[in-house]
Amino acid sequence: MLPDRDGGKTGRLALPWLVGAIPPECLRSDKHVAQQACCIPDNLGMNPLLAKLQPYPFERLKQLFASVTPNTALKPISLGIGEPKHATPAFIQASLKTAVATGLSAYPATAGEPALRRACAAWLKTRYDLTLDPATQVLPINGSREALFALTQTVIDPTRPGATVVSPNPFYQIYEGAALLSGATPYYVPSDPARNFANDWDSVPAAVWARTQLVFVCSPGNPTGAVMPLSEWEKLFALSDQYGFVIASDECYSEIYFREKAPLGGLEAAHQLGRTDFKRLIAFTSLSKRSNVPGLRSGFVAGDAAIIKQFLLYRTYHGSAMSPVVQAASVAAWGDEAHVVDNRNQYRTKFAQVTPVLADVLDVKLPDASFYLWAGVPAGWQGDDAAFAKALYGAESVTVLPGSYLARDFNGSNPGQGRIRMALVAETAECLEAAERIARFVRAHPQKMDPGSSPV
Ligand SMILES: Cc1ncc(COP(=O)(O)O)c(C=O)c1O
Repeated sequence: MLPDRDGGKTGRLALPWLVGAIPPECLRSDKHVAQQACCIPDNLGMNPLLAKLQPYPFERLKQLFASVTPNTALKPISLGIGEPKHATPAFIQASLKTAVATGLSAYPATAGEPALRRACAAWLKTRYDLTLDPATQVLPINGSREALFALTQTVIDPTRPGATVVSPNPFYQIYEGAALLSGATPYYVPSDPARNFANDWDSVPAAVWARTQLVFVCSPGNPTGAVMPLSEWEKLFALSDQYGFVIASDECYSEIYFREKAPLGGLEAAHQLGRTDFKRLIAFTSLSKRSNVPGLRSGFVAGDAAIIKQFLLYRTYHGSAMSPVVQAASVAAWGDEAHVVDNRNQYRTKFAQVTPVLADVLDVKLPDASFYLWAGVPAGWQGDDAAFAKALYGAESVTVLPGSYLARDFNGSNPGQGRIRMALVAETAECLEAAERIARFVRAHPQKMDPGSSPV
């Protein structure tokens, strides 16, 4: 929190407890405090990089909807937040309960128990037919979110001029926050709707690559659901060899897919291209979506042993050891595939029913993977995704996330503009009901509504 001021009217400090934090030269007498307090910067004693952080998309959505009264005749349905809602498997709950008896009486090691690291490595073998050393190439993390952030702090050297982090656009906002707080500057690479939302890596100038230290890949992508093909991996690996940047491959949606073939993983791609040491590559895998345990906070990273060694060092100081109770439940979860197949089938059924209803009225199709639909709003809405989301909420009590909130205006365009993200995480019947209401809304309002004439 920034220090409170007297309502911002005079810019003077209003809180007496702050006196202790004021430089001695300002403290000649109490009388001087009020006069001199204006020499104290707003971020008193705090990291100035915090001021660079952007509001989270859901904060912006809350503000967008603040003046809207949703249709009270209809039960509100949210397709806004991408939080898994399918039931947590009973065997994972049971293993948590069992582990409580012995798992709370000692501090855990940051590296995790060998049994957990072995379970993660065994999963990589089952899923990708890859053999990694559990001792040096695998590390447990408390969900991919914290680890995406922490790895960035480990990798970035802000003392090198122009430290740059390359991020997809649209993107998961942690990439940007992690880059900014590490002292780097994000460079956004647009996704191209004409190429199944592939990121246009070719749009990055050589001068930017030359100062790039880290590249985020999100495959399957949030919000696009696109899986990055081998040819794109080949391109990125060649660039990484040329410029020396690390690739952080966020793969938390890898187990929710709609095609016959499971999504290609970053480590799998590297292996296929003969990069068996996974040089400068770290893949992030999570149980949250795979096993419906977003509250467990469990995942792992795997890849380049040299980076993992430094990452472990960073994490030891950061204090990110995983609770032994969570470790025990994670070993059970990684060891079972039946519940993953069942979970995937639930999404497949849901997407098979919901997508055609929406495809009748919006520019949308079944994605490769993930649990999102990334749809274009009707042309009559002139690309105004926020106005569409707001009017839809007012008329039909359905929440969708404006695509422009998930992307940045960069190099003259916002690749999320004119799109909305719908997270199909609720039960099929609820998602279907939402889709039918959206279809009804679009048929009634093919053109952008005049705010005065609408329920907005
Ligand atoms: C693209 C992406 N990466 C990472 C995460 C974080 O997932 P978790 O921390 O639960 O593993 C999310 C969560 O929604 C996400 O959408």
